[in-house]
Amino acid sequence: MHTEHAASDEAEVILDVDEATTAKIVGKLETIRGLIDAGDTNGAMALCDEVLTSPNLAVNAGVKLGLLIQEIGQTDIADVLFETTYAKIKAVIHRLESPERALLPAAEALADLGYFDEAEMLCLKAIAKAPDNLTVAVGYAAFLVYRDRVDDAVKISEDYCTLTDSKFNGAIHFAMIFDHLKCDDAARACLERAKKYCKTKTQRAKLDFFLASKGMKKTASDQHGMAVELFDGFADNYDTQLTKLDNNGPSMVLTALEDLNLPKTKTRRVLDAGCGTGLCAGFLRPYAKELHGVDLSVKMLEISKKKGGYDYLARTDLSEIVTFPEGKFDMVICADVLVYFGALNIVFRNFSSVLSPGGWLILTVEHEGDPAVTGGFKLYPSGRHKHSTEYLTKTLAEAGFPKPKMLKHARLRNELGAPIFGTLVAVQKPALSFV
Ligand SMILES: C[S@@+](CC[C@H](N)C(=O)[O-])C[C@H]1O[C@@H](n2cnc3c(N)ncnc32)[C@H](O)[C@@H]1O
Repeated sequence: MHTEHAASDEAEVILDVDEATTAKIVGKLETIRGLIDAGDTNGAMALCDEVLTSPNLAVNAGVKLGLLIQEIGQTDIADVLFETTYAKIKAVIHRLESPERALLPAAEALADLGYFDEAEMLCLKAIAKAPDNLTVAVGYAAFLVYRDRVDDAVKISEDYCTLTDSKFNGAIHFAMIFDHLKCDDAARACLERAKKYCKTKTQRAKLDFFLASKGMKKTASDQHGMAVELFDGFADNYDTQLTKLDNNGPSMVLTALEDLNLPKTKTRRVLDAGCGTGLCAGFLRPYAKELHGVDLSVKMLEISKKKGGYDYLARTDLSEIVTFPEGKFDMVICADVLVYFGALNIVFRNFSSVLSPGGWLILTVEHEGDPAVTGGFKLYPSGRHKHSTEYLTKTLAEAGFPKPKMLKHARLRNELGAPIFGTLVAVQKPALSFV
């Protein structure tokens, strides 16, 4: 925790706390906001009291809490909080040095309290100390937007991009912030800049999301290239990262297999499509006479090979039928792979053609629940797509699959502390086809 002590009264000014504590406090402030909006002022005030007594309440969060308390109508408490926070900051303001961990939080608190000149002075000091720090540049730009000085904010974003080595990330980050602050033209200008700096396929996938969301023309994206680049780079840390995210995808597939009550007869040819590092291999084994793992990323395949979970491994592009292993399969599993595809019609057709009559397709995707999303799927800033249930069933039907035997929603994993919901589908290819 970063603290500064006032010379006179030794009052402790908490300027910045670790990410986890910040996330918890932000979460509670959001809950208070929700309770106020729902008219539950008692519940909101009870939670305010809890946050007020939190030992790690940074000054900027303290002022935001004060604003909520003011809204509830407890102006006396809010005023005391505002006055003491301002006094504490004033006592240390000339000694604040750390751009990101002291100057910015204090500037944010001052701006929320209405002391704009002092807040700007701190922002300028932060920028002078760390001109190539993205958080600092973005913080100052956001302040300028709130002060209705959008042109000055755009200038900060341009200056930042000339200074930094990660120009693409800078331009995209500013585009996101301007978008969030409803400065459409500024966001578009940043995206145009990002196009110039876009070098890798992963960057292109990210850029395409934003271009599409602003109705701008996408670049010629390349699913194959993006996946190879992303997963070749990610392979060594994949298992550790997914454990940290409390990955539930493979267990969802396991649940499907158990709920379908398929006999564990070790008689099937099973294809783990997009097998990655082989997280599903262990529980597919009891069903398989031959267990095939296929993936586009050689690095992911190498890790699977080391673990030894599959009988056969091959480099396959799920969009290209000619790259699939020979012969028919009795079961195709596709866990957490289709999120890297937008349209699924070609992949589903390919799965249908490699499945034997009566064979099972079991897959997971991220769930798109927003009815405003047209076309059935949407690319998100994570670089992954979410697919609607209607899109899945329609596209499966077009590829020759009947109504799924199982379709349920459950938590796939956590991201930034929040659950990401997925859809689990199990569908059986008709045993006889009359076409
Ligand atoms: C998030 S991982 C999931 C791996 C594994 N199924 C699991 O549940 O842990 C996604 C995998 O899909 C693979 N992938 C992406 N696009 C692909 C494509 N067109 N063809 C084959 N594999 C692909 C990636 O290389 C990566 O290994």
